[in-house]
Amino acid sequence: MRGGRPAGPPPHTEADSQVNITIITMNEELREILQAWLAAKVDEERFRHSLRVMELVPELAAAHGAAAGPLELAALVHDAARGMTGAGMLAAAEEWALPVREIDRSYPILLHGMLASEMARRELGISEGPVLSAVLYHTAGHPQMTLSDKLLFLADMIEPARKLPRSAELRRLAFTDVDRAMLLAIDINKEHLKVRGRPVDPVTLELELALSN
Ligand SMILES: [Fe+2]
Ligand SMILES: [Fe+2]
Repeated sequence: MRGGRPAGPPPHTEADSQVNITIITMNEELREILQAWLAAKVDEERFRHSLRVMELVPELAAAHGAAAGPLELAALVHDAARGMTGAGMLAAAEEWALPVREIDRSYPILLHGMLASEMARRELGISEGPVLSAVLYHTAGHPQMTLSDKLLFLADMIEPARKLPRSAELRRLAFTDVDRAMLLAIDINKEHLKVRGRPVDPVTLELELALSN
């Protein structure tokens, strides 16, 4: 796929979320299965980060009246593809017939949310829209993100070990005003990319525009 169209399948709606959240509950057994699955795919640092995000999402979900279960699952899965090399990410995306844009070819790391979502579907049999969309959109966002999707995106950035500029403000906004937090998160990400001479994913710019309107 070329141009600025969002990667991945169409977004799930809030209505989908309402249907699915009732059937997802994280329990000890499921947590152990998922942790073993993840531990085999990523390094210790990435594994610990995923656990910290998982521990944070119930707090964030409670602050906004969102369901914690799908987000805990999504948190454990979201970076599962980060253990792959860039070439491996591109090869997997092609093997699974996922949409790959020009920008993904230059920066395959942009594919890691979509790949993790696909891994969750293929390897764990997860089909719940709220889980898959939160994982899919955590990398660059999407103009039609649900509240739940935004909460994973923010939790990923405010987990305690992440040292980002303006993190105190981002953390405060994440608990009080999700859309303002998203705009700040985008600003922080854009600054980070600029310093590294990397382009901003067009989908992130579409999200920024949607949030500003
Ligand atoms: Fe990630
Ligand atoms: Fe992450």
